[in-house]
Amino acid sequence: MSRQDNKDANKKLTGTALFYSLIAKARELDAIVLGRGDPDFDTPANIVEAANRAMQKDNLKPSPVEGLFDLRKAISDRVQRINGINVEPETGVVVTNGGQEAIMLMVLASIAAAGDEMIVPEPNYSTYNDALEFAGGKKAGIPTVLEQDFAVDPDLVEQAVSDRSAALLLVSPNNPTAAVIPTETMQKLVDIAERHDLIVLADDIYDQFIYDGGVHCSPQSLQAAKDRTLTLNAFSKAYAMTGWRLGWITGPPDLMQKVKTIKASVSGPANVVAQHAGIEALTGPQDALEDMKARYVRRRKVVLEAFDAMGLKYGMPQGGQFIFGDVSHLGIDSVELAARILEEEHVLIYPGGAFAPESKYYVRVTFLQPEAKLREGLERMSKALSRMS
Ligand SMILES: Cc1ncc(COP(=O)(O)O)c(C=O)c1O
Repeated sequence: MSRQDNKDANKKLTGTALFYSLIAKARELDAIVLGRGDPDFDTPANIVEAANRAMQKDNLKPSPVEGLFDLRKAISDRVQRINGINVEPETGVVVTNGGQEAIMLMVLASIAAAGDEMIVPEPNYSTYNDALEFAGGKKAGIPTVLEQDFAVDPDLVEQAVSDRSAALLLVSPNNPTAAVIPTETMQKLVDIAERHDLIVLADDIYDQFIYDGGVHCSPQSLQAAKDRTLTLNAFSKAYAMTGWRLGWITGPPDLMQKVKTIKASVSGPANVVAQHAGIEALTGPQDALEDMKARYVRRRKVVLEAFDAMGLKYGMPQGGQFIFGDVSHLGIDSVELAARILEEEHVLIYPGGAFAPESKYYVRVTFLQPEAKLREGLERMSKALSRMS
């Protein structure tokens, strides 16, 4: 395939498919990866050991569809302690194959009929768009903008409500914008959901990564939303366990019964070895997580400094593990821009256009590399950008 063919092929792909094609190219080139959202850390040793112990037990029995009781109990304790969410392990928790499966299950459980609408603050994690399409639902997108640090505006949410509205998606910290929804705004949003009888789909996957003294608020912890919210979380980010494919959904018993029924036919229970690892992750020592958090704080500073030096505008990343910057002054579509930076400097960053068409002049850069490699990647990105301006 020629360079031009390659660029044309990338242009035609969208969303998750585009990300996977860029990842494959980055692997070929042994590029510095500042695109993909997987932690660079190893899974902490105590978690790996727990999986080893489980494999050596000769009673490694299959799990119920909703997951092992001990893991569901550990999850209900964790969400109570960290998120203020009250659910029973028996009826309020389903263990999933990572956050990715949880997205599909939540969307399928909330879109009851073709044409049902989900209100989606954009840009957003592209898998939600794909899941919504597969489920036969429709997106009612509302914009969030850099000038307001990508804050979700409750008035726009209210205006987007129609008689087909079924669900409201709230991802905080958001991917790709890294915006965090403050408690006061979250309260307004769940009040809207209650008034219009919407199911809230909450994605808390980055709840451990909040910066500058901010606070994370889970909608399911608020009275107005506790019986209408499905909340996703996963082990991938907080415990560097992306490859283990383990996550969970919490919610009220009626919605969770739906989630469980769908999961039974989609994939059955999550892998039992991974579930034992998950129990250790939640109940064992948390120092590896604390260490990762401290490193992310330092790396975020490196990225902010580099973006300032490159003269790029961005929404202040209040959470997550990435920054979303504006490259519109270059006048180059971000899909092409990312392809050029990858080819010329062997650095992978993600094009904003893959998250939402309106973000085609934005890029997402993750800080999921050791500091020295991160600096090197940012320097190379800067070189490529200065050639383009
Ligand atoms: C907002 C959000 N939700 C869900 C996921 C899926 O997570 P997992 O790796 O556990 O499948 C991701 C992955 O990057 C994400 O950014």
